[in-house]
Amino acid sequence: MKKITLLLGLTIFAGQNAFAFHPDIYQPRVPEESLEQVRNIESSFPDSPERIEAGKKIYFGKGLCVTCHSNDGKGVRLPGHSPRNFTEKKWQESRTDGELMWVLKNGSPGTGMPIRVGKVITEEEGWSVIQFIRSLKNK
Ligand code: HEC
Repeated sequence: MKKITLLLGLTIFAGQNAFAFHPDIYQPRVPEESLEQVRNIESSFPDSPERIEAGKKIYFGKGLCVTCHSNDGKGVRLPGHSPRNFTEKKWQESRTDGELMWVLKNGSPGTGMPIRVGKVITEEEGWSVIQFIRSLKNK
């Protein structure tokens, strides 16, 4: 029984790794067939210091984002595929808010990024946390 569990574990681990291999972190995470539509989705909540603050609370609180994305947004090291560095200007500019929302709703397939919106946070809270992530960008 133990052997089977170990074998199963190894197979899943190896499989995930093969799937998770994205050498280019700027490559879109949204499947190609929906990319154009997803890129154009915008938040209906205007930017404001209050909303960034609300997003920060979710990031450090019930969203559990901080456990993987760390206090400064640069991310902790994870096996397989580590989170990208949210402070990096080039990554920030390669993504639209619509793409980030897609990841919050679908997770990032093949990586440890879990589904958040609809599970642990609402869509409005998702848009707030995206504003907070945008505020981490290096000038
Ligand atoms: C269990 C660890 C974990 C948790 C918890 C987590 N993330 Fe992630 N996140 C990841 C990993 C790993 C990636 C990198 C995946 C990839 O390459 O797309 C990622 C990627 C992302 C991305 C970027 C995807 C892209 O387009 O490049 C966003 C945005 C994101 N996470 C936001 C969040 C937010 C907001 C929360 C909390 C509500 C959160 N994450 C919670 C692990 C986590």
